[in-house]
Amino acid sequence: MDSIFVTRGTTDAIPIWFVTAANYPDVQKALDSELSTFAAAAGFEPKAGRFLVLPGKNGALGGVLFALEGPDETPDPFLPGRLAQLLPDGTYRFANEPHDARLAALAMALGLYRFTRYRKAEARAIKLDLPQSLDRDELAHIVEAVTLARDLINTPANDMGPAQLEQAARKLAARHSATINAVVGDDLLEQNFPLIHAVGRAAAGAPRLIDMSWGDAANPKVTLVGKGVCFDTGGLDIKPDTGMLNMKKDMGGAATALALASMIMARGLKVRLRVLIPAVENSISGTSFRPRDVYTSRKGITVEIGNTDAEGRLILADALALADEDKPELIADFATLTGAARVALGPDVPAFFTDDDALAAELMRYAASENDPLWRLPLWRPYEAMLESKIADTNNVGGSQGGAITAALFMRRFVTAKFWLHIDLFAWTAAAKAGRPEGGELQAARALYALLAARYG
Ligand code: BES
Ligand code: MN
Ligand code: ZN
Repeated sequence: MDSIFVTRGTTDAIPIWFVTAANYPDVQKALDSELSTFAAAAGFEPKAGRFLVLPGKNGALGGVLFALEGPDETPDPFLPGRLAQLLPDGTYRFANEPHDARLAALAMALGLYRFTRYRKAEARAIKLDLPQSLDRDELAHIVEAVTLARDLINTPANDMGPAQLEQAARKLAARHSATINAVVGDDLLEQNFPLIHAVGRAAAGAPRLIDMSWGDAANPKVTLVGKGVCFDTGGLDIKPDTGMLNMKKDMGGAATALALASMIMARGLKVRLRVLIPAVENSISGTSFRPRDVYTSRKGITVEIGNTDAEGRLILADALALADEDKPELIADFATLTGAARVALGPDVPAFFTDDDALAAELMRYAASENDPLWRLPLWRPYEAMLESKIADTNNVGGSQGGAITAALFMRRFVTAKFWLHIDLFAWTAAAKAGRPEGGELQAARALYALLAARYG
């Protein structure tokens, strides 16, 4: 994929002036007096989001004014992402500093994304001549990872079933010379992944566990686990139409794990990386698993099914048990797991859970510095009682309250690693925002990548 970033350092790139009420007088001084007269005549004001194209010599573009938040407003570091939709084709450069040049450049690239698998988008030819201080390859790798995740999530289940998700993982593995295996269909029973099999067995596309490894085996082990429910009908406890409508995105956790892996491998972080993706379709047929069924999980814990719509935690339970077996330094899982997390925090702020306070604090810092928001919820032990079953070791659902927490507590039963991080995310932007077009979205991965890059770079 072509990146929008160039580093030519030439002077013919069209300057973008970032203006606020505070610096506008200085910017006006830096411009030709004719241009600042033009800006005033065009009614330009330095209010966040305002945009004006300035004329240049011989009818060319002379520059662009784009207004940012002033000192008494909360800055959105992605606001310059709007330029992706506003700018005519051309090569641009930053004439002065936005609030955060790295995030501004990233947002412009991310704002250009369009999902073009089924309908061509208007061709755009916008290039950004990056400031010398920015790492062009690093930014390009991040854009590539976000693009991968968005494409995977946006692709509907008829073209992104468990087999195609495996293909996508294989393609990524091949690019980075990672090894990859998949346990498919009834082999899941043979190799002891009973819960992945139970959830996925009703679908025409066979369930599977994708297992990818990369990096020097002597490096610290980091294992990423992603919920790969390619479509979630809810199973027999079927979802209502509105709840089901967007469930092609229920493999958003898998897309997140793959995108994070892509950044880690492109950067060559000093880790032994493993990515585990249980990939299934939670479908309905004569072979569906049922409410009140009881299954013995990989770990040996017996699970009573309270609701077949709580399928993500089931497939993750077996994958987490496997992840735990070779004692990694960090296990991180990503999942579009609960509606309850969305009720608590809304669509834009994924919830994360960990017992490791230092990791939590570090992650919060990177969430802020990467503009990739996250918020911690507690693994509140007393709520374990909500998961009680009368006939098995655990039920797969808690009560009607605290659903994101009981889901996390359920999964915690299958991991012993102290350094376990669980992220419950939405993977979707319902209404386009700066740098975030409508549709599938990569959440939490840039923040965690920054943390890992600092630890293992
Ligand atoms: N994939 C859904 C959760 C979901 C729904 C995430 C909408 C984001 C948007 C998950 O499999 C699910 O159905 N969870 C149920 C659990 C319940 C049955 C205990 C939920 O949250 O309602
Ligand atoms: Mn479900
Ligand atoms: Zn689901």
